[in-house]
Formats: sequence, C-alpha cells, structure tokens
Amino acid sequence: MSIRRLPSELINRIAAGEVVERPASALKELVENSLDAGAKSVAIRLSAGGLDLVEVTDDGSGMEPSDMGLALERHATSKLPTDAIEDVTSFGFRGEALPSIASVSRLTLESRPRGSDGWRIEMDHGVKAGEGPAALPPGTRVRVNGLFDKVPARRKFLRSPRAEYAACLDVVKRLAMARPDVAFSLEHDGRRVLSVQPSDGPVRVAALLSHELDRHGIGIDCVRHDMRLTGVISLPTFNRGMADQQFLFINSRPVKDRLLVGALRAAYRDLLARDRHPIAALFVDVPAADVDINVHPAKTEVRFRDPAAVRGLIVGGLKAALDEAGHRSAAREQFATAVNWTSEPDRRPSEGWDPGQVSLAPVADDKGWTPAFAGVTEKTLEFGRAPAARAEPATAPVPSYPLGVARGQVAATYIVAEAEDGLVIVDQHAAHERLVLERMRRAANGGQVARQALLIPDVVELDEPDCDRLEAAIAELGELGLEIERFGPNALLVRSTPAPLGKTDTSALLADLAAELAELGTALSLRDKLDHVAATIACHGSVRAGRILSVAEMNALLREMEVTPHSGQCNHGRPTWVKLAHGDIEKLFGRK
Ligand SMILES: Nc1ncnc2c1ncn2[C@@H]1O[C@H](COP(=O)(O)OP(=O)(O)OP(=O)(O)O)[C@@H](O)[C@H]1O
Ligand SMILES: [Mg+2]
Repeated sequence: MSIRRLPSELINRIAAGEVVERPASALKELVENSLDAGAKSVAIRLSAGGLDLVEVTDDGSGMEPSDMGLALERHATSKLPTDAIEDVTSFGFRGEALPSIASVSRLTLESRPRGSDGWRIEMDHGVKAGEGPAALPPGTRVRVNGLFDKVPARRKFLRSPRAEYAACLDVVKRLAMARPDVAFSLEHDGRRVLSVQPSDGPVRVAALLSHELDRHGIGIDCVRHDMRLTGVISLPTFNRGMADQQFLFINSRPVKDRLLVGALRAAYRDLLARDRHPIAALFVDVPAADVDINVHPAKTEVRFRDPAAVRGLIVGGLKAALDEAGHRSAAREQFATAVNWTSEPDRRPSEGWDPGQVSLAPVADDKGWTPAFAGVTEKTLEFGRAPAARAEPATAPVPSYPLGVARGQVAATYIVAEAEDGLVIVDQHAAHERLVLERMRRAANGGQVARQALLIPDVVELDEPDCDRLEAAIAELGELGLEIERFGPNALLVRSTPAPLGKTDTSALLADLAAELAELGTALSLRDKLDHVAATIACHGSVRAGRILSVAEMNALLREMEVTPHSGQCNHGRPTWVKLAHGDIEKLFGRK
C-alpha cells in the first residue's frame, strides 16, 4: 500500500476524536474561545444535552471575515504570536478546536468586530456550505448542530441527553469559577438554568456550588515559595456522599488531576469518614515555567515540574486552615430548622475560663480518664429501655465552662450539660472517639504511644494477605503502641495494645486495621498512614453509646473536649455536640 497525505477534512476528523469527545467538550472549547477573546459576558444555549444544539454567544473582540475563514482552518491561531508555548496564558493555543468541531457537525460561525459589520460562515461536516452578512451585536456566536450525527461510532458512545447535559453543566461551572469577573448564563431546552453576574472568587464559588459555603466554608489563602493557593473548602461537617464538587485550577485553568483527590483526602484524613467528601474549589498559581499545559489535546491535564511541592502546598494549606477552624462544626440542618442550635463555641472564653487552668474531675488520673472505661463492650444504642437520665439539681452557680457542667445522661448516649449561655448536648461516643484519637496523635508525635503489655499474648487469625499487610506495617503499629508479630501464615501474635485504648477486642481491631491498610494501599506516606490507623484504633477504644457514665466522668469528658483541638466533630465529620442558647429555649416556650 502506498503512503498518501490525508485530506484536511480527514485530518480534522481525526483530531476531533481527541478534542471533541462529547457535547461538553465542544462547549468547553467554544466558551474558552470566548474568554480568550476578552468576553465580559458569555451566553450559552443547549438542546438535548448539547446533542441537538450547542450555541455560545459572547461580547468579545469578534473577528474580521478573513480571520473567520482562517479560524476554521487547522493549526491557525492568534494565540501564539511568538513561538513560546511555555508563555501561553490563554486557554487555547493549538488552533484546532473550531476545525475539529466543524468536521463532525453543522457549524455556523457569526462574528462582528466593534465598529464593523457582521459576517457569517456555515460549515457542513468540514466543508464550507455558505457565507454572507450577519446581523449581531459586536462579538461572536458559534452554533453547533447535530454533533456526531454522521459519526455513528462516536454517537454510539454518547450517553442520554440528561447525562450529556450534566457534563455540560460541569464544564460551565468550572469555567465560571475560573473567571468570576465574567457573566455567564446557561439555557437548556429553553429553560434558564444558570445565571451569574461578575463577582469576586468566593462569591462565585458559593453561587455555583452551594450558598451554604458562606456559613460552612473556610476561605484559603496561603503562599509557599513562589506558589500561591487560594479558594474555598467546606468544613468537615459539611460534606457530601460524592466527590463531585471538587475543583482544581492551575493558573486559572480548570484541570482534572488525581493529585487533588489524594491531597484532599490527606488534608481531611481523620475529619471525614472514608465515604464522605468535602467540597473544594482550589486555585493554585505557579510560575509558568513550573507547569506544562501542553500535555493533552483537550488541555484538561497539566504536568508539574514538582508535583510533590504542589501537593504539599495544598495539604499543608488546607490542614492549617482546618486546624484554625478548630472546634467549629456545622450544626446539622435538622437542628437548625426549629430553633437555632449551634455547635460553634465562642472561642473567646467567658471570664474565668482559661484552657490552661482547667482542672480535671476527680476520676481522671494523669493518663486522662480512659481507664474508667476500660472493657466497655456495648455496641448498640438501646433506646427501647427505660430512660437512664438522672437529674442533677443546679445547686451552685454554673462555672464558666464553654461546654458547661454535666446535668445528666439521656438514652445512655447523650450527655446533657448546662452552660452559662444555654443547654449543651454531647454525643458521648463521637466525642470520646475524637479525644482518644487526638491523645494518640499527641503521643505518636512525641515519639511513642504507651503500650499495655498483655499477660498472655493474643493469637489472632486472619487471611494471609491481611496478615501480610499488618506485618508490613509492624513498625508503624509499634509506634502507636500496638505490638504484633507474625505467627504462621494465617495468624498474628498481639503482645501489647495502645494504652490509651484500655482493654480492647484485639481480633476485631486487627481485622479493621487490615481492611484499612488494604484500602490505603501504598498511596499514602507513612505519616499519613499512621494517622489513619490511629483513627481506626481510636474508634475501637471509645466509649460506646449505651454506656452509663457517672457525673464525674461526664464532666471530665467535657473538660477534655474544651482543651482538645478538633473536638467539635468526630472522626467521621459529624458534630460531637450542639448547643441551644437560652434565647432559643425561651423562643421554644413562646416567652420571646
Ligand atoms: N469567540 C471568538 N471570538 C474571537 N475570536 C475567536 C473566537 N473563537 C475563535 N476565535 C479565533 O479563532 C482562532 C481559532 O480558534 P480555535 O479554538 O480553533 O483555536 P485556538 O483557540 O487558537 O486553540 P485551541 O485549539 O487550543 O482551542 C483563535 O485563535 C481565535 O483567534
Ligand atoms: Mg480555542
């Protein structure tokens, strides 16, 4: 067979295979062109998820008729005036998007530069089908009809209009977040679904992702060397079941990078359950020389010169912000409906409260108060039985503790406390789990968690791969006070357990740890892994719901919460306590 040069229509169709995967990718290219043309307003219309129509109208620079012809030719671009791809700051630079889209659809390009008349060029599957004058305001309008109608192989892989629409919406959100200074509107099947006016970054993110971020978000702004990270993340308690609201922008370009997933997980590691996900929109600015944007025809991926530094910036910046947000936790909506439950402590402690001087209740010895709960095994919540609440009359004035003084226990699960400014309810298991974790962490950071040797070592039988995993982590587990040894192919010997845990079910603990390690795989650093493992261990060592506590134990728990970082939420991101202010109690009884 002889070699031949391919005709340009065919070359364009081949390129379209990479650049235009579905309506959303065509839409992305068109909107990026509008933004590159300096548009201040971009209006988008879609029909049937973009399968029938994708139309983008902008008020940007517009093009002269001769440029319009060139724009539809491959490798024709106005965006590389010099040959330095490294210096590109526009979205586009490859000069192939318009010809690629035009080769697999019916495309109409209309454009009018300021102070000139408008012109129109119609393309039908890569071939010019007509042209002439056009009446439109200054700017450009591109209409794409019947994308892939004549490319059955591609058409077959498209999903339902609904799914294609979802992908289009995602594209619009990303670009609208990247450029908060530009107005965007989106119409789908004749219905206006989105409309945002120029604003600043955080306002735009909240408008597109969730207005709740105003209350439940944390603003990020930090600098490391020559990199800067800004953006918004959600408080751990304001989380989602899907990781679909996490966005990364590199030098204002929306990108999809697995780095974000890992970095978010590391930053929230013990603040969220594995199956819950934060909301995040993060903007990283790095020197142009440190990132290669020409990696992928659709330009949705980049390559960093030093990915670890970018990851470090994100994880470090987010952790610092989450630490600062500290005890803050989002009151759950159901609480918020009737009255104003809060779980945000007043961080300016009322007079007389000095975290440094909190005295622990008598039951607590210098190891904290855990030993009092050693051997707790109840796992279930028993609402069915008789109430276990006890009244503790308020004899003395209430001392100024932010979480108050314990007055009783409800359903053997919740501590009810009286604070100066209201009524506090604490989930004892969630709170204690958090305290054990923080305690283990402090000990691990100090070098070593105290061990409690078992008189007779426990033999725990597990699958061989699980035993292998735990064996590989012997050193890390040792640091956490859990001393194990391989004992044949299917068993491990447990010689000591972490002292903060008290007595614990070693076989359940090892099974959980093995599952945890399997899931973490080799993806995380040793330090990260250690923390995950600590969280799993903490869960095992915690006071279960259903355990009756003495008043002294309850007060010890409250005092320890007040001085422990992150005590406002459990390791799974749920609040550990809520407060009903006096004013709200009065409202409940119609006194206000
Ligand atoms: N909405 C628009 N307003 C003004 N000029 C435009 C518009 N859309 C496209 N152009 C012009 O047409 C040229 C070709 O656009 P096209 O999208 O094909 O390539 P590109 O944007 O240069 O690079 P890429 O293929 O990476 O997107 C652009 O360089 C630009 O000069
Ligand atoms: Mg382009």
